[in-house]
Amino acid sequence: MLPDLRYLDQQGHQAFPAIVAGLYADKGMPSLAGELSLDQVQAIHQYLIKRSGDLQRELRAAP
Ligand code: HEM
Repeated sequence: MLPDLRYLDQQGHQAFPAIVAGLYADKGMPSLAGELSLDQVQAIHQYLIKRSGDLQRELRAAP
């Protein structure tokens, strides 16, 4: 099972770079440190924030 990151909470957003760098490695989320640059991590994060906003709009339009 993988989490749907469109539902990531405020804490998750704050910890985003740390999570990608291995904070939850012991829970099955691999460390991507060394694979992704900070710019790439930020670009993925911005994409997720956009997808999260899209989802909220969809849910409001068709409850
Ligand atoms: C760019 C790629 C990825 C990003 C940005 C990412 C990001 C995240 C984030 C932010 C969380 C925390 C979710 C939460 O707290 O609700 C998470 C959890 C998790 N991720 Fe990833 N992830 C990536 C790739 C992967 C991959 C490739 C795997 C497995 C092969 C994976 C497995 C997991 C698992 C199992 C968790 C749940 C950990 C737990 O139980 O708390 N992730 N991921």
